[in-house]
Amino acid sequence: MVTLGLTTYSAPLWEQTKGELAGHLRGKLPQLSDVAVNVEVHDRPAEKIGEIGLAAKAVFAVGSGKGGVGKSTIAAVLAYGLTRAGSKVGLMDADVYGPSIPHLIGTSERPMIHNDRIQPVVVDGLTVMSMGFLVPPGEAVVWRGPMLHQAITQFLRDTDWGNLDYLIIDMPPGTGDIALTLSQLLPLSGAVVVCTPQDVALLDAVKAIAMFRKVNIEILGMVENMSHFICSGCHARHDIFGSGGAKQKAAELDVPFLGEVPLNTGMRILGDAGKVGGSFDDDASRPYLETICLNLVKNLVSKHRQKPAMPSLSVLR
Ligand SMILES: Nc1ncnc2c1ncn2[C@@H]1O[C@H](COP(=O)(O)OP(=O)(O)OP(=O)(O)O)[C@@H](O)[C@H]1O
Ligand SMILES: [Mg+2]
Repeated sequence: MVTLGLTTYSAPLWEQTKGELAGHLRGKLPQLSDVAVNVEVHDRPAEKIGEIGLAAKAVFAVGSGKGGVGKSTIAAVLAYGLTRAGSKVGLMDADVYGPSIPHLIGTSERPMIHNDRIQPVVVDGLTVMSMGFLVPPGEAVVWRGPMLHQAITQFLRDTDWGNLDYLIIDMPPGTGDIALTLSQLLPLSGAVVVCTPQDVALLDAVKAIAMFRKVNIEILGMVENMSHFICSGCHARHDIFGSGGAKQKAAELDVPFLGEVPLNTGMRILGDAGKVGGSFDDDASRPYLETICLNLVKNLVSKHRQKPAMPSLSVLR
């Protein structure tokens, strides 16, 4: 039996790492009849990043140029996926004008203030902050740019996020305002760009990538959402918006492709019911979502790769 000490940051990669180590040992020591690999959590708290005092090992934004392509859904699903794997995750809804995270995760709890610090809402093990918790549903926020900047700063600086492995930021559609604010406030690990496969959406995704690059935010990868639809009656595949466009565009732009998510009525129903995390219990969605989480964490881990102790093992952050 071998015990591996790994951090919760790399939790989504534990299974793969265990398998790789067992395979490596079997190859090196064929006399071993059975190899059992165990994981023990060896946690290193995150260091504070930027000038705002937030403690997270990676902060990444989920954005796109276009509205309605599933940014908030994918941001929430990534947050659930990483949490389910064992990582400590925060989810910040930066869509101040149209916050949808509270609805997708099914809470209307209000954050408390304690010692002048915002206590975020905790839902299903996720630490969450959104303007939607502060403004009654149906009411609108009408602000100028500087107030937007201030709200995002407060969400990041004055919230007790705790010690996080990942802080995921759900971006509003369109302009670069928030991206600029974020890039000024803290060093982001990067951005995930969500798009649908048709040309009009891809055009906007290309613009979003250019916008992130302009403010020096690296692209961690592209996700193709609503990539195809499997008919529940005839089981035929329909490429409603086309298919493969994002993968092709990712290759053209030299950014990683993280995976695709089919158009799935169950996912929409779960989102409307405030149970978007339940997508992981749906066989039609789970494999796709897990692939995206895995590819994303692999990218993040490889960015911070330390010198490998063994040829196939370097997941140590
Ligand atoms: N793969 C999918 N299958 C089915 N429905 C989906 C899928 N992805 C997202 N949706 C649905 O599409 C709608 C829009 O999704 P979402 O709010 O996540 O998009 P958005 O890009 O964040 O929008 P906005 O630009 O307004 O912020 C929601 O009703 C959501 O449930
Ligand atoms: Mg949204």
